[in-house]
Amino acid sequence: YMTDTELHKIHDSIKKTKKKTYPNKNFLWVLKDLQVVRKSFHALQEERRERAERSVLISCSPKVSEKKLLKFLSQHGNVSNCFFYQSYGVYAVVEFASKNSIVGLHESTSLPSMHHEVSVPFKSRLLTLKTNGSADQSGGSNSVEFHPQVAMPINELLQQLSAEESVDQQLSRLTSALQLTEENVSLRFLVCSLVKDVAAAFFPKCTVHPFGSSVNGFGKLGCDLDMFLDLDAASGNPKRKPSGFYLEYQMKREASERAVTQSVLSVVAESVEQFSPGCVGIQKILNARCPLVRFSHQPSGFQCDLTANNRVAMKSSELLYVFSSVDERVRGLVLAVRYWARVHGVTSSVAGAWISNFSLTALILFFLQTRGPPILPTVDQLRDLADQSDQCCVEGNDCTIVSDLSRIRLQTNTESLERLLQEFFEFYAAFPFNHMSINLRKGKEQNKPESTPLHIQNPFEATLNVSKNVNAAQLDRFVALCRESAWFLQQEAGSKPATVPTGGSAQAWGLAALFLPSLAQAAGVKGRRKKKREPASERVKSLLQSISTSHSSQ
Ligand code: GTP
Ligand code: MG
Repeated sequence: YMTDTELHKIHDSIKKTKKKTYPNKNFLWVLKDLQVVRKSFHALQEERRERAERSVLISCSPKVSEKKLLKFLSQHGNVSNCFFYQSYGVYAVVEFASKNSIVGLHESTSLPSMHHEVSVPFKSRLLTLKTNGSADQSGGSNSVEFHPQVAMPINELLQQLSAEESVDQQLSRLTSALQLTEENVSLRFLVCSLVKDVAAAFFPKCTVHPFGSSVNGFGKLGCDLDMFLDLDAASGNPKRKPSGFYLEYQMKREASERAVTQSVLSVVAESVEQFSPGCVGIQKILNARCPLVRFSHQPSGFQCDLTANNRVAMKSSELLYVFSSVDERVRGLVLAVRYWARVHGVTSSVAGAWISNFSLTALILFFLQTRGPPILPTVDQLRDLADQSDQCCVEGNDCTIVSDLSRIRLQTNTESLERLLQEFFEFYAAFPFNHMSINLRKGKEQNKPESTPLHIQNPFEATLNVSKNVNAAQLDRFVALCRESAWFLQQEAGSKPATVPTGGSAQAWGLAALFLPSLAQAAGVKGRRKKKREPASERVKSLLQSISTSHSSQ
């Protein structure tokens, strides 16, 4: 068993050396096996949460010297990890080996001297490093490596994809370009930990956990940070001894659990706004189906959604994490389809009558459950593999799934990612959405229980449809794009062109071409009035034309 950090370090070094010759092929096999013994979701979350608790975020001068900074900080204890990134300035995430070091660091930290303003005396773990100049890097090249926290721009990504040799290689390149890095995940946990410090003023034993794509294995650099304020530990009930007397706290009362959640979030929102440096644009969205507080955390650049009493969503994140850990093709396919959906407006960053990323992910996972042999187990199978310690019931719903990933064994399926992408589009181009519903618990479609255009049964709340919001027009768009994409990948345009244009960079093909707006136009789903569909040969011609036009205009 290895820690996640150790695994990541080995993977990173493999990634760096993969392009060069790597002599010991067996070593790679060992690593493949190691992935099977990945930590359980809870163990991983707990490890990361604890590491975030002993970390600080430091705003530095652009000329900062890593060596000098580490020397300065080591007065307070050993630094076990440190990395830098650039957003609205240069920041260092510093993880101490012991939490006590932060106490020492805080004691030696001074309050800023302000001339026209007065500081609120809340001392957070977001610090600013001030120097008199001598501590900055003097001369020489800057040795600080900045770790990117956002995905590269689409044009750059399309160029990189087009330079690859096969669609499979493009998919692998896309995954490594988009997926969350070890550093980005650490930063997400640190921001949750900083928000927890504020909430802890009212609820001393609370925790703030990231959920959603930050932890479910399908996050893309730049995705939002969904946070769950967990007050359960703060409100635990000690066992009463039968002594005749016992004490109860006097507490405020509310009419419903929802009203309690709203008042808790409201007061935490006020505190974040008043006391938490770096948190701006606070919006209380307390009347939503799931009440939340939205804000930007400027130093990290994260858009944060803070919720409370949202245990099922946390469990859904664990389910998705388990699916993403079963087979590495799962993440590749999800990231590619999510990206495809986003560039063609099938999904959006705002909520509406369109398919959400969560619903889209459910569609992909379901498709993988239906392969022969299946690439993913059903949710019922995950429940059957669970042991006593995995038992979980949330609001009367059985949310039990196995936590020990090594128990999940499936027959070998050797389909390439390219094939899976093609088959995904074909599967949903022909899926009988009008009368069938998606059931991840059984891995089988079933008759629709209601007449909404898209029905995806919530795996943990069987009576709910996670895609209830989707209207017929949006579902049609999705199906039309699937049809066009399936057709497109079968054509010549889906393969790398034999000739490379002289003097120019690579022509968009395969996955890169699939991400171009021309695809949606060809599918007749964007800004097109009803128009007679031209013959297939004409469409190929115009599609190829639009790809090269769009490419040369980049
Ligand atoms: P991003 O678009 O990358 O943020 O993906 P995400 O998976 O984080 O989605 P989002 O931020 O919209 O939602 C966060 C989490 O809330 C999801 O992972 C789900 O666990 C849960 N969630 C979101 N939408 C729904 C829904 O419609 N139904 C249910 N049951 N849960 C949802
Ligand atoms: Mg999210």
